[in-house]
Amino acid sequence: MWLYLVALVGLWTLLRFIRERKVVSNLQDKHVFITGCDSGFGNLLARQLDRRGMRVLAACLTEKGAEELRNKTSDRLETVILDVTKTESIVAATQWVKERVGNRGLWGLVNNAGISVPLGPIEWMNKEDFAKILDVNLLGMIEVTLSMLPLVRKARGRVVNVSSAVGRVSFSGSSYSISKYGVEAFSDSLRRELSYFGVKVAIIEPGAFKTALISNGGISSSIKTLWDQASSEVKEVYGEEFMLYYLRTMTSLVETCSEDLTLVTDCMEHALTSCHPRTRYSAGWDAKLLYLPMSYLPTFLSDAFFYWSSAKPAQAL
Ligand SMILES: NC(=O)c1ccc[n+]([C@@H]2O[C@H](COP(=O)([O-])OP(=O)(O)OC[C@H]3O[C@@H](n4cnc5c(N)ncnc54)[C@H](OP(=O)(O)O)[C@@H]3O)[C@@H](O)[C@H]2O)c1
Repeated sequence: MWLYLVALVGLWTLLRFIRERKVVSNLQDKHVFITGCDSGFGNLLARQLDRRGMRVLAACLTEKGAEELRNKTSDRLETVILDVTKTESIVAATQWVKERVGNRGLWGLVNNAGISVPLGPIEWMNKEDFAKILDVNLLGMIEVTLSMLPLVRKARGRVVNVSSAVGRVSFSGSSYSISKYGVEAFSDSLRRELSYFGVKVAIIEPGAFKTALISNGGISSSIKTLWDQASSEVKEVYGEEFMLYYLRTMTSLVETCSEDLTLVTDCMEHALTSCHPRTRYSAGWDAKLLYLPMSYLPTFLSDAFFYWSSAKPAQAL
């Protein structure tokens, strides 16, 4: 009985492996538009797809980022300046893309731009702190998608949305998680609605990786700022010790996270080039072995894990 089961799982894995290796044809004629290419995953993906011969349309937030990227890539790669929080910037970028793709349409849209701060316990933040992250990570993604969708539909192409492992399990620093839960919901609806047009939607769920997003000190300074701005009541309830523990936990995340960004960009590349892309890609061992299994645990068990493994506020019961 067990032998049959193992053989069945083995066969299924082999068939899936063979199916997923099939690559779409004429990659050199396909345009891919990527947001947030100044650094991190977006920057590496742009260079990776350029090397593969695809026509990369890389959107950067700054001219400096765009120039640096152009210096490292072939003449085929083109850049545009895009701030995903500004409607006029999105409209201009869409027009720019339209002129380049013509009747072929846009094969790939990679919604990658994102920020991680302000980040801290919910009670330390105000509505504007939440809005700042949602504006880039979720509303920016939605507006870019709405604007580019007619071009993607024309090519019967792909939308690749960058979520996070914490788009599955939310714990401290929930403003970021909230935005990524939103990305998951948006992408699920989008995938179902666009399937009628032959457009495929993939979600990338990276664990923790050493990029500017989490390693440039932004997270720790954001926690300190939120603490400084917190009311005297919040400071009394949580206590300085809790704040320092929280700070240490978040900064130690930076030390333990993976430096191999290709684990993420290979998933993105697969989603854009395979005939049979996956719906979701978990990238990194923490995503695969911690966050993914935890997302399937009964809530009382994951709650208990977080309760017992974190520091308690000064006035916890
Ligand atoms: N690193 C991780 O551990 C991790 C884990 C899970 C998910 N992610 C997600 O992966 C994506 C890429 O992040 P990353 O880790 O590669 O960090 P990153 O190096 O900071 O890349 C983010 C990019 O987005 C750009 N950006 C920021 N605000 C923007 C805006 N308003 N409009 C357009 N572009 C904007 C940044 O430009 P500047 O560089 O000029 O600021 C940067 O190029 C994000 O969606 C992030 O949430 C990252």
